[in-house]
Amino acid sequence: MSPSAASRPRVLSGIQPDFGLHLGNYLGALRNWARDQDRYENYFCIVDLHALTRHPDPERLRALTLELAAMYIACGLDPARCEIFVQSHVTAHSQLCWILETLTPMGWLERMTQFKARSEAQGAERVNTGVFTYPVLMAADILLYDADFVPVGEDQRQHIELSRDLAQRLNSQRGDIVRVPAPLISAVGARVMGLDTPEEKMSKSVAVDRPGHAVLLLDPPDVIRRKIARATTDTEPAVHKPVGAGVANLLEIYAALREVSTDGALAEFEGRRYSELKGAVADAVVDAMVPIQARYAELRADDDGLRRVLAQSAARVRLVADATLLRVQEAVGLR
Ligand code: TRP
Repeated sequence: MSPSAASRPRVLSGIQPDFGLHLGNYLGALRNWARDQDRYENYFCIVDLHALTRHPDPERLRALTLELAAMYIACGLDPARCEIFVQSHVTAHSQLCWILETLTPMGWLERMTQFKARSEAQGAERVNTGVFTYPVLMAADILLYDADFVPVGEDQRQHIELSRDLAQRLNSQRGDIVRVPAPLISAVGARVMGLDTPEEKMSKSVAVDRPGHAVLLLDPPDVIRRKIARATTDTEPAVHKPVGAGVANLLEIYAALREVSTDGALAEFEGRRYSELKGAVADAVVDAMVPIQARYAELRADDDGLRRVLAQSAARVRLVADATLLRVQEAVGLR
């Protein structure tokens, strides 16, 4: 394990440039990353290689990659304090992935719930191999930078476990080579549920087919208000304990955005009509989105500047990634 130059622990996380970001991505990930950026040494990746498993249109992948970079910054990640880079710009990700694949039993990957869900939906014969090896590439993303912590949602815990298993396997076979990462799963706002289906976690891919499922970070205020007004509640007219899943989700969103406790939010709205709750939630969401959207527009007015940020960051992180890759290559006899 190489000692980290900085004394702060290192975090690494990533999002796929596959669909537009939504409120759940903000409250469950980006806002926390931005809030904690002084406590850590920060590596935030745009995982375009992972997005390829969905075969996006090339123009769209390029556009979403830049959009996501701008969103990272608009949501508060400061390029002076965070590495913000594109996975495919650093070739070591693919190179380490191959080596790790040779250490990964098929059985580990067959157990991954994300793979199982995709193969059940599409038929195991037809799912591309990238979907199968996806968690190994993710392990490469993490291990290359000797990340101490990986801030992710609960749904990614199994992938982090696999990264830990791979790190331990490498270390036990070849001596201390990589750091064993730990998941960092935040309790606050970690689970924003779908507005139309409050039993399911808010999902980027679902929102494409059902716009009412999620507030997107780039939705104009009137769209935000309309989506929240239509959010699923139940047949009660007003907030009463015990609240159903839809009302609980709205209270959760309100609490996270206004930085009050869930109990505090419940106390504030108890007995009030759902329409009032929804109005207050919509105000809170719009208040949060207006500055993000303004900053986003500024950033997108200078795409070359944005590309420069990504290129400069890639040049820096490449040094870290290549050093780790070399250690692994030496350990397995490739160098
Ligand atoms: N699999 C993650 C997701 O879908 C994205 C991801 C790829 C990631 N590489 C990563 C997250 C490395 C954290 C660290 O959310």
